[in-house]
Amino acid sequence: MPDEAKQSIGVAVSSATTFLVYRVAAYQERLPAKTLPPEFSLEWEKPSSILKRVSTHSPKHSAIYTLFHKTGIFRTQDFSVMLVMHKGNVVHGSTVFPAFFRFPFMEPSDLQIGMLYTEPEFRGQGLAMAAVARIISDQQFLNRTFWYVVGEDNAPSIQVAKRTGFQLFGKSQRKKRLGSNFLGAYVIEDVVRVCDSAG
Ligand SMILES: CC(C)(COP(=O)(O)OP(=O)(O)OC[C@H]1O[C@@H](n2cnc3c(N)ncnc32)[C@H](O)[C@@H]1OP(=O)(O)O)[C@@H](O)C(=O)NCCC(=O)NCCS
Repeated sequence: MPDEAKQSIGVAVSSATTFLVYRVAAYQERLPAKTLPPEFSLEWEKPSSILKRVSTHSPKHSAIYTLFHKTGIFRTQDFSVMLVMHKGNVVHGSTVFPAFFRFPFMEPSDLQIGMLYTEPEFRGQGLAMAAVARIISDQQFLNRTFWYVVGEDNAPSIQVAKRTGFQLFGKSQRKKRLGSNFLGAYVIEDVVRVCDSAG
C-alpha cells in the first residue's frame, strides 16, 4: 500500500481518571479471528514503516513511541499496529505496545493493545473487534499475555475488550512520577479478578 494512503486518522485521548485493566491470559490457542466483509482488509504496520510515521498516531505520539522502540524502553520488539483498510484508506488502527515503565503490572514479555481508533463513520461495524481478535490470535503471539487499559467511561471500547475475550483484572489510577504525567504509571489499586492461566 502506498505510504500516502496511510494517513493519520486520529488519536484516542481519554479524560478518564480511573481506568479498567483487562487481561487475556496466555492461552496456547486463541479464538479464531473474526472475518470482515470483503471491502475491508486487515494489514500489519510493522516497525520498518512505523519508524516513518504511525498511521493512527499523532506526530508527537509517533515520535515518542518510535523512540521507545529504538532505544529499548519498550521491553520487546513487538511495537506494531493492526490496520483496517477500506478502499486504500486506513479506517481503523489498534496498536500493540510492549511492556514499559508506564505499566508496571506487565511482565517483560507481556503486550498491551491500545490507542484503538475507528473513523467515526465506520464505527459499530465490528472493525475494532476484528482487529483486536486478529492481533491476539496471531501465531507470533501465542503464549503471550495481552492487557487492555480503558477509561471506565468508554463503553464502546470496554465492549470491544469483553467481546474479544478479555477479563476484568482490576482498576487503576494514573499516578504522576517526579511531578510528571509523562513519567507517570498506571497503578492497580483494586484487583477485581485474577484470571486463571490456561497456558
Ligand atoms: C472504541 C472504538 C475504537 C471502537 O471501534 P468500533 O470499530 O466502532 O468497534 P466495534 O464496532 O468493533 O465494537 C463496538 C462495540 O461497542 C458497542 N457500543 C457502541 N457504542 C456503545 C455505547 N455507547 N455503549 C455500549 N456499547 C456501545 C457496539 O454496539 C459494539 O458492540 P456489539 O457488536 O457487541 O454491539 C471507537 O469507538 C473509537 O475510535 N473511539 C474513540 C477512540 C477511543 O476511545 N479508543 C479507545 C481507547 S482505549
